[in-house]
Amino acid sequence: MNNTSHYLCPICQHALTLQDKVYRCDNNHAFDQAKEGYVNLLPVQFKHSKDPGDNKQMVNARRAFLESGCYQPLRDTLVKLYQQYINGGNVIDAGCGEGYYTMAHSMDNNQVYGVDIAKNAVKIAAKKYKQCHFSVASIAQLPFADGFAKWLYSIYAPIKTEEFSRLLADDGYLVTVTPGEKHLWELKQMIYQTPKYHNIGKQQLDGFELVAEENLNYEMLFAHGEQALTLLAMTPFAFKSSEQLLSDLQQANNFICQADFMIRVYKKSIVSS
Ligand SMILES: C[S@@+](CC[C@H](N)C(=O)[O-])C[C@H]1O[C@@H](n2cnc3c(N)ncnc32)[C@H](O)[C@@H]1O
Ligand SMILES: [Zn+2]
Repeated sequence: MNNTSHYLCPICQHALTLQDKVYRCDNNHAFDQAKEGYVNLLPVQFKHSKDPGDNKQMVNARRAFLESGCYQPLRDTLVKLYQQYINGGNVIDAGCGEGYYTMAHSMDNNQVYGVDIAKNAVKIAAKKYKQCHFSVASIAQLPFADGFAKWLYSIYAPIKTEEFSRLLADDGYLVTVTPGEKHLWELKQMIYQTPKYHNIGKQQLDGFELVAEENLNYEMLFAHGEQALTLLAMTPFAFKSSEQLLSDLQQANNFICQADFMIRVYKKSIVSS
């Protein structure tokens, strides 16, 4: 079977065609489709390290944590926003991780593309969520044509305004999710002597106009210490955790911790010529 895909070749930017499980451009650059269904479009020469992005341990911890449902209110809010503003068209999850949010955006009337630089994450995303399209690529150079997407979102992942603006259709939207001031506050209190609030980040993004901002804040209850340890393992705090902290968390039954998210919807600014 010969299928023109929506992907572009990362080397020459020509369209890739899928034939016999190989994506190939007309310059004969070829990329195998992995058995899980994703394609690795990050050529070795573009990699800054051997295994870029989150490591396997963090990816597995994130999947276990997300599947516990603790961030479901965030997922539901994002899907609601998508349906309210667009509903249809091509959707890109930039820095999709293991695909929890990607899958939720998949509907009968759209195509959803999850992209991440971490092969470990993309692999388990593609294995589980067959209704979405997954690729390994960098946010700095996403493998799609100009104006391809109507809805592009970034959840706790790097934001590249120029590239996101290129990818969005003129009537497209960018959604960002970044930590709110008190995100994981109770966990931070256990780690730091004088914890600080998160800086809630930049509201202004070059090339975009902010059209909506929502702060989603709620308490998560971890009945068993094991669940709190899973949360810790998927955060950057994992690297800072002492034996004492691990043991305190392990024993902390009914640990309550805040989730605090800043959700922002931006419209692409149209530059008049
Ligand atoms: C904190 S995780 C969030 C993952 C997912 N959005 C979620 O919320 O479950 C950040 C993700 O961004 C990815 N990432 C970091 N730098 C990237 C880049 N330059 N290009 C693509 N993905 C990147 C990481 O591999 C990781 O999966
Ligand atoms: Zn090519």
